Amino acid sequence: MPLENTNPETTNAWKGLEKHYQETKSLELKNLFKDDPKRAEKFSIRWGSFFVDMSKHRITADTRKLLLQLADECSLKAAIKKYFEGDQINQTEGRAVLHTALRAGKSEQVMVDGENVIPEVYQVREQMKAFSEAVISGDKKGYTGKSFTDIVNIGIGGSDLGPAMVTEALQFYSNHLKAHFVSNVDGDHIHETLKLLNPETTLFVIVSKTFTTQETLSNATTAKKWFLKHASQEDVARHFAAVSTNTEKIEEFGIAAEHVFPMWDWVGGRFSLWSAVGLSVALAIGFKNFENLLEGAREMDEHFRTAPFEENIPVMLAMISIWYNNFYGAETEAIIPYSQYLHRLSAYLQQGIMESNGKSVDRNGNRVNYETGTIIWGEPGTNSQHAFFQLIHQGTKLIPADFIGFKKSLHGDQDHHLKLMANFFAQTEALMNGKTAEEVTSELQKQGMSPDALSALRPFKVFEGNKPTTTILIDKLSPRSLGSLIAMYEHKIFVQGVIWNIFSFDQWGVELGKQLATTILSELKGEKSGNHDGSTSQLLEHFKR
Ligand code: F6P
Repeated sequence: MPLENTNPETTNAWKGLEKHYQETKSLELKNLFKDDPKRAEKFSIRWGSFFVDMSKHRITADTRKLLLQLADECSLKAAIKKYFEGDQINQTEGRAVLHTALRAGKSEQVMVDGENVIPEVYQVREQMKAFSEAVISGDKKGYTGKSFTDIVNIGIGGSDLGPAMVTEALQFYSNHLKAHFVSNVDGDHIHETLKLLNPETTLFVIVSKTFTTQETLSNATTAKKWFLKHASQEDVARHFAAVSTNTEKIEEFGIAAEHVFPMWDWVGGRFSLWSAVGLSVALAIGFKNFENLLEGAREMDEHFRTAPFEENIPVMLAMISIWYNNFYGAETEAIIPYSQYLHRLSAYLQQGIMESNGKSVDRNGNRVNYETGTIIWGEPGTNSQHAFFQLIHQGTKLIPADFIGFKKSLHGDQDHHLKLMANFFAQTEALMNGKTAEEVTSELQKQGMSPDALSALRPFKVFEGNKPTTTILIDKLSPRSLGSLIAMYEHKIFVQGVIWNIFSFDQWGVELGKQLATTILSELKGEKSGNHDGSTSQLLEHFKR
């Protein structure tokens, strides 16, 4: 059954939220805290090792009530059921959306076209386990009898960002295998990587759901050519593995059947790291850790599926984000992890969030009248404080931000960790409280500044404050907590797509550029002549000259 089709603007809740926005837009967060000593508690959710504080948002109990009414009027509960049960909610591609089945329990049943897919999922997991363990232990060897030292994941988009982000994030748990990720069709990427490698001890993992992606096939072909300068065609089978739905194409490439890892069209590329697309992760951190990652995601699935909406982390995060996006007109959201290990998290979520919800046509095929997908950006703290925080603090734009931090430091260096976390807490406090003209005056007076100099400088030192943040404080960065964190954002994406009445699981917007690039490539090679606009023709001429 497809998702129900409700234009959110026609709901009572939407109209109520418009009115409520006018009534509450000038509320000051710091006053909300003064008025209600229990505010922090009332707007926080504790779940397992997660503590999610949403009290520094411009919301009241009435805002929450209206947002949850909007969720109800848009049939969110029914939509969640369809999502987990394998209904064809990716209607434009005629597919189910079942990344959640990849981390479901062994005894669960998830039906696609009348067949339970869980046994297949576990079969591939077993294959991944056996393969990764043989590579890590050194039982699986290269063409000269040496064990592998390096793995190279070749893929792009969802076939790169997820595995790369997770491998970086869980580096603390890694083994001796050095993981490399090659994605860009820019030859510099693969050639710089190949410079670091010894063909005798390198394993290439080619990841492409379709096995037709230009970037991935070009990089895989270049890697194979490089390998064949040192080894023979039959050695390819030992040094290459592949993950894809397109097993025919993989065979043509010369990959041995036991190194072929299937995936399914009911898993979207940007949600696929839980499948064999995560093979590089399993190789880099070991299969047990990979399983723990899946377990963490499964726990978040359970929370999302069963917790009442008011206590449901992904639902609340999604609805608060809609509040800013559609009523405050906020265009972007920042994601700031206070963990260097998570330095690729925003890049990963950019694909997840923007490829999913960057849509302007609703589920009826009509142009929407309201804003949809938010723009996502971010870098780790504290680096970001010294880069773009100025704009969040004193710029003209409203930028809700997620601050993600951990109670424990993995290396146990308390000196560094306390400094890091002091910054983490200080920033959200500063963003909320700001600094008034009176506070600036008294500070400058204490420094002995003359009244004239003081009034000249004062306006520049005032911070408006009232900047909204979510604090996500987790006990420790582990495979399990990371799995939960990623799944949390996946479900936030889903909820927003349901409310905005768009299809979150297709990505037609990336097709046009791909098609044009194919045409232009034949022109650049001199195989064809083309017809372009004045600007493009001029640029092509200049390039060819
Ligand atoms: O960018 C478009 C896209 O289709 C993504 O959704 C996907 O993750 C990526 O390309 C790579 O596709 P494939 O895994 O088929 O090579």
